[in-house]
Amino acid sequence: MATAKLILDGKEYELSVIEGTEGEKAIDISNLRNQTGYITMDTGYANTGSCKSAITFIDGEKGILRYRGYDIEDLAANARFPEVAYLLIYNHLPNQAELSEWRRQLTLHSLVHESMLNFFDHFPPTAHPMSILSAMVASLPAFYPDMDNVDVNIMRVLAKAKTIAAISYKKSIGEPVVYPRTDYSYMANFLRMMFATPAEPYEVSEVLENALNLLLIVHADHEQNCSTSTVRMVGSSQASLFASISAGICALSGPLHGGANQAVIEMLEKIHKDGGDYKKYVNMAKDKTSNFRLMGFGHRVYKNFDPRAKILKKACDEVLAQLGVKDPLLDIAKNLEEIALSDEFFIERKLYPNVDFYSGILYRAIGIPTNMFTVMFALGRIPGWIAHWKEMHEDPSLKIHRPRQIYTGHRKREFVPVWQRP
Ligand code: CMC
Repeated sequence: MATAKLILDGKEYELSVIEGTEGEKAIDISNLRNQTGYITMDTGYANTGSCKSAITFIDGEKGILRYRGYDIEDLAANARFPEVAYLLIYNHLPNQAELSEWRRQLTLHSLVHESMLNFFDHFPPTAHPMSILSAMVASLPAFYPDMDNVDVNIMRVLAKAKTIAAISYKKSIGEPVVYPRTDYSYMANFLRMMFATPAEPYEVSEVLENALNLLLIVHADHEQNCSTSTVRMVGSSQASLFASISAGICALSGPLHGGANQAVIEMLEKIHKDGGDYKKYVNMAKDKTSNFRLMGFGHRVYKNFDPRAKILKKACDEVLAQLGVKDPLLDIAKNLEEIALSDEFFIERKLYPNVDFYSGILYRAIGIPTNMFTVMFALGRIPGWIAHWKEMHEDPSLKIHRPRQIYTGHRKREFVPVWQRP
């Protein structure tokens, strides 16, 4: 068993080394403060393992992403989103009976409590759908307070989130709510709830269903990213699954995380309106005084390529061709990618297109409005959040997450009453 040696203040300490199934190594410092009085400092947790997890493996150098041992390319090409969700949550691919029961339950649980519909009426029409989604998921314990029934709550949040998302869209455009139907698949139900109107018949397009399936699969998990770590952080206090997922939705909304997919399209639209001068934006991204970043570029973990971006770039070409759509933003995106990948600034910093770079173009082709893009990311990521919450709760060594800090504020001071202050 390998160990690490630490010499501190002239004393030597032996620290055990942990190795994962894919050879990843960590130094166990869980007793460091007790042994030495020191803590470790790692702003942004770039080198900190917060848990052991058997859900997702990423090799950022090689561009590998696997859910429960299955390559993302394999799942994206062959699986359906509900079975990937099942795989992530229950650690095995469902057999036929398990899958049909899982699908049945997912459609049965799609309805939201009728009283919840009143909530939607009181959001301003301009409310961001991510705020609505997080608020609605946070309110689920009020309607479904039985927290011990974990498996039912898993299906509830997975099934209802898409209904909540679609209702928030319908309300924002002033159209009547479309209820889910048990004879429709997860994807078809969502598309129907989004786009069907009482005015004309709506037929779910297979191309859109497949594109949505692919998008949700590539977003389904990504180990200890900001939102998943938030779900684990909140869940570590034994907060409910619903509360933890609502917190994950809030974390995802930021433009450096899931909010980047909306920011990418807004950036591409701006470049388009600006005459398509993408080189100007590459130069701005390189100029440190500009505060501008190429949205959809860079990743904390991937330092070679993001396999999800590769899958989505190919899908953009295929889906747009199948739909007969010509999107000028796709050409701008490809130009940006090409120039950025050959530019020293991006090469040196290992900045590549990430999952958010091409996803927006697909969402646009499906007809999803820009402010719903991050909601789509959330719908895809919910199985991952559930899997992490469940894994954590099944771990008998679960402890509340409580990092330390190095205090840099004032030393002790005496309180001075206001009339004596200068
Ligand atoms: N455009 C221009 N420069 C960049 C970019 C970018 N998109 N990303 C990083 N850099 C530069 C950054 O200025 C820094 O340069 P220097 O070393 O000279 O100071 C260097 O690259 C390292 O950047 P960092 O911010 O220290 O890297 P990080 O690992 O902390 O951040 C990131 C990762 C994804 C937040 C960042 O790359 C970024 O802001 N990208 C744009 C937003 C984005 O697309 N986010 C989606 C991430 S993928 C989906 C998800 O999982 O959420």
